[in-house]
Amino acid sequence: MARKRVAVLISGRGSNMVALIEAAKDPTYPAEIVLVVSNVSDAKGLERAQAGGIKTIVVDHRRFGRDREAFERALQAELVAHQIEIICLAGFMRLLTPWLVGQWNGRMINIHPALLPAFKGLDTHARALAAGAKQHGATVHFVVPEMDSGPIIVQGAVAIASGDTEATLAARVLEVEHRIYPQALRLVAEGRVNIVDGKCLIDGSPAATIS
Ligand code: GRF
Repeated sequence: MARKRVAVLISGRGSNMVALIEAAKDPTYPAEIVLVVSNVSDAKGLERAQAGGIKTIVVDHRRFGRDREAFERALQAELVAHQIEIICLAGFMRLLTPWLVGQWNGRMINIHPALLPAFKGLDTHARALAAGAKQHGATVHFVVPEMDSGPIIVQGAVAIASGDTEATLAARVLEVEHRIYPQALRLVAEGRVNIVDGKCLIDGSPAATIS
């Protein structure tokens, strides 16, 4: 089966993007990373993508002022021009409108550093510690218009230790992110994920948590 053409959208350092690029180096991996798009011209991840021989594009949202859809139409034009089939958001710090999300229904996935639906939004590690959570982790999910929502594909959990700080917890969760994002993209690219009643079934079964 032809490998799916994937674009990774970033705004920052791009460590999850690198994890996806590394996974896709295996010729048997069902997806290839053909494009990296950033809305920030000095995103560190752009250099890392170029070092890996991946085409990069900057679509600077500031050019479009408050017109989110104009920004998204420019982004969409690039995605279409590159015949993208699946989008991976990887630290892409723009809220997307229902219009763009609707163009990619079931074909756009995101990674979030928490066990959704807990701790949507920012500062997830500090909030998990402040809440006294015993477990924390990361989630890969399909993108829907509501932020950090959408059917969950894969989750990975870590236990919170008594001496954990925001930094130590973030580092452990990031390792989990780098493991589960390539797993989730594989499942989606292989067409093994179905959304039924707003929930993901993988090979027809409820998705398992990977810890
Ligand atoms: C990750 O923690 C990801 O879960 C969140 O933003 C961060 C991006 O990190 N959405 P990186 O750019 O992939 O290193």
